[in-house]
Order: sequence, then C-alpha cells, then structure tokens
Amino acid sequence: IPVAPFDYVVFGGTGDLALRKLLPALYHRHQDQQITGPSRIIAVARSALSRDAYIAKVLEWLKGQVGSDFDEATWAAFADRIHYVAVDATGDAGWPDLAAALADGGSKVRVFYLATAPDLFGPICRSLKAAGLATPDSRVVLEKPIGTDLASARKINDEVGAVFAEQQIYRIDHYLGKETVQNLLALRFANSLFEPLWSSAWIDHVQITVAETVGVESRAGYYDKSGALRDMVQNHLLQLLCLVAMEPPRQMDKDAVRDEKLKVLRALKPMKAPDVLSSIVRGQYKAGASRGEGVPGYLDELGHESHTETFVALKVEIQNWRWAGVPFYLRTGKRMSEKVSEIAIQFRPVPHSIFPADAGVIDPNRLIVRLQPNEGIRLHMMTKEPGPGGLRLRPASLNLSFAETFKIRNPDAYERLLMDVVRGNPTLFMRRDEVEAAWTWVEPILETWERRAEPPKPYVAGTTGPAAAIALIERDGRTWNEEAE
Ligand code: BG6
Repeated sequence: IPVAPFDYVVFGGTGDLALRKLLPALYHRHQDQQITGPSRIIAVARSALSRDAYIAKVLEWLKGQVGSDFDEATWAAFADRIHYVAVDATGDAGWPDLAAALADGGSKVRVFYLATAPDLFGPICRSLKAAGLATPDSRVVLEKPIGTDLASARKINDEVGAVFAEQQIYRIDHYLGKETVQNLLALRFANSLFEPLWSSAWIDHVQITVAETVGVESRAGYYDKSGALRDMVQNHLLQLLCLVAMEPPRQMDKDAVRDEKLKVLRALKPMKAPDVLSSIVRGQYKAGASRGEGVPGYLDELGHESHTETFVALKVEIQNWRWAGVPFYLRTGKRMSEKVSEIAIQFRPVPHSIFPADAGVIDPNRLIVRLQPNEGIRLHMMTKEPGPGGLRLRPASLNLSFAETFKIRNPDAYERLLMDVVRGNPTLFMRRDEVEAAWTWVEPILETWERRAEPPKPYVAGTTGPAAAIALIERDGRTWNEEAE
C-alpha cells in the first residue's frame, strides 16, 4: 500500500547509518512502489557536496547493500528523488537553503530523521524551529542512543520536547522493526496455544541472546564511551524482554502496546551493588579468530587501555505476578563465535514421568524464536524413537522457517519503521517514559561498575564469551542454548 507523498530530511546524510541502512531501505520501498509521486529524500550534512557527488556516493553504497535487488531503471527513478543540502547543524550556515528546498513541499508529510550524534538532537531541533521548519504536523525521528544515562536522556527529551510534541517524536529502536520481533506478537497474541502457558506456572526461564561476530571496527570512538550495556541492553535487549513478558495489550495500538511495555520496565528488579556483582558478567574480547581468520583484540583496535565491556551477560528478574521467580538471562557481545539473535523460552520439566528409566531422559520443552539469521520458530519436544525395540524417547523439533514458508524477501527493519513514520504510526517506536524507565534500571549498574573500576573479564574473539558467563547460568542448574540450527 503506497504511503502519502513525503519529504524525508535525513540529518547525518553522509554518515554510515544513512548510507548503509536508511537510503537502501527507502530504495527497497521505492522499488516495491510504496513511495509515491513527488516524495523526496533530502540528505543534509556539513560537507559542501554537490547533488551529483552525493548521489554518486549513495550509489556506491547502495549497490553493495541491496545486492541483486539493484536495477538501473529503479535506481534512476530513485536517484531523482534524492537531494542534498549542506547545513551546519550547530551554526547558521545552510538553514535558509534547507528552508528553500522544503518551501515547495506543499501538503507533503515532512519527516526530520536525526541520524547524528545525540548531542546534536537539541541544537538541530532548535534550529528547525528558528528556521520555521518544525511545522505542527512534521515528525522527528531520533536514532539511538538517546543519551548515555538518565540525566542526559532527560535533557535530550526536554530539548526535543521543547520543539516537537510527544506524538511527533519517533525514537527508533530498529529491533522493533525486525520481522521476527513483530512475529513475537503474532506468536503470543494470534495463537491461543501459548498464552495460557506463558507464566511462571509453566515457564522455567527465558534466554535472550544477541551475539555478533563483528568487532567494533570504525566505531571504536563511539563504542568505547558506550559499551555493550548502553549500546545493546538498555534498548534492544530490554525491548525484546518487554515483548516477551508484557501482558496482552488491549489492541495493537501505540498507547496500549507501549503502556504494557512500560509496566514491564518498571517491574524489573532493581540491581543493587551486590546484585550487580552476582548477576552480571562483563567481558572484553582479546585477539582471536573469527571465521578462520585472525582478528585483533578490542584494546589493539582502540589503541589504548579501556575498561569498556564488549560483552555482557545478566540475570534479570521481573517483579510481578506472572513472572515472579522466572529468571530472564540476557547476553550480548561482539566478536562471538556466531552471529545469532534468539529468544529461548524454556518450559518446566514434566511433573512426573510415566516412563521407565531406560526410556531415556525427558528434556523440557524449549521454544526458540530465531530473530536472525534463518528467521523462524522452533519447538523442541519429546517423541518416541521410531521402530521396534521398546519405547525410547528422543528429542525432535517442529521447525517453522519463515524463508521456506513465505518465500519472500525478508525486509530490513528500517524499511518498515521509516514508512511507519510517514503513516504516523508510532506503535513500534519508544515513548519518552519507556526510554527513561530503561535508563532508570540501567543506571545503578553503570554506577556500581564505575565505583568498582574493575576490568572486564577477557574472552578470546570468536568464542561464546567469558567462562564466568557460563558459570552465571550453570550456577542455577541451567545452560545457555548453544545448539546449532
Ligand atoms: C546497533 C548497535 O544498535 O545494533 C550496534 O549500535 C550493533 O553495535 C547493531 O552492531 C546490531 O544490529 P543488527 O540489526 O545487526 O542485529
């Protein structure tokens, strides 16, 4: 379904995110004929580039990103939509040019996408207002990170909120745009099968893993000030946890869904200093190998000493009726053995076995929602081993692969989210109170780490993280889900 014509103004237009994710996402939606008539993409950055030079830059990146979806005719029409304006985000230069470029926008939807460092969000919004560009029906999209702690997040929210009303502000968490993440909502609320079992009565524990094989590469400057807890847990992993744990919202509506997620964030058991020591493991990768090739350690890449964590594993509890006593184990890291994001729901063991001991061990059921790669849902269950020779039990799985079942391209998370902004649907974006609730929970952890100033535990690049992370879950008589596909 086509969206209304729009002007998408992308601040940070020459940056990594714009070139690697945003422009390719818009290209795909243009190719799918969702972008109509006079819609334009107006890239904004500091450099004095010509439109042609910018378009050449986009083309260079786009070919690599969209692969076989690239075709010359689509590209030519898409490139016609692209414009470039040089603007000094913190000064006066270029704003009149941007105003002139937008002047003939007519009744189009106007979106300002701030793909810049968060300390520019406030200044950009103030300048948009001063230039008369922040019209009452325009929208502003904020990339993460929204601050580095609660105070800085509040400051950004206040500054942006002084120009735009909350319903105009779209705080992006691209994990919410991933197909399988939305499938979690379908799994839970479009099937009657699981919801009656979705509580401490039947679930033993939940694991959320987001492992990457990449290191920090060119982002070391940003990453070293951030670390895995701020970069991944405060946003992506807590959002996943909310979708797994929240109560059924009244309807798929911006406030109903976000109200339920907020309740989960507020029910997270606070991490006092002793909990930080007993329930969290920080790690940092040393030199090792990734996919058979030698890779440097984090400190080698960075070039100086640092205590920033590139891995974190946590045991989290939700203090409410449904989840009391059910641990949620979260872990995420760079330079892990495999790129895999998944949620594993481990059910309780059967209450009583009717089978003789020689029938074999009864593994508890495990439901795996695989977010990437090989998106799908797998339910591990026990079966009888086929054939004669007595009754022997064997684990097997029901396996739903989205690629095989639906045979369509799996759109990138940004595609859906960029179009949701044009449609005016903020359901899959974070509301101010959610972001601040997440920081409220994360902050005591950061404070304890800072006070203790202990180095993170080393792990060899290309492995599953520090041994202490394995001990964290094994201490409770459980294991991380490491099974291959
Ligand atoms: C970003 C983080 O938000 O998410 C990156 O800043 C991380 O460090 C990325 O690599 C992971 O996203 P995806 O979609 O590749 O899982």
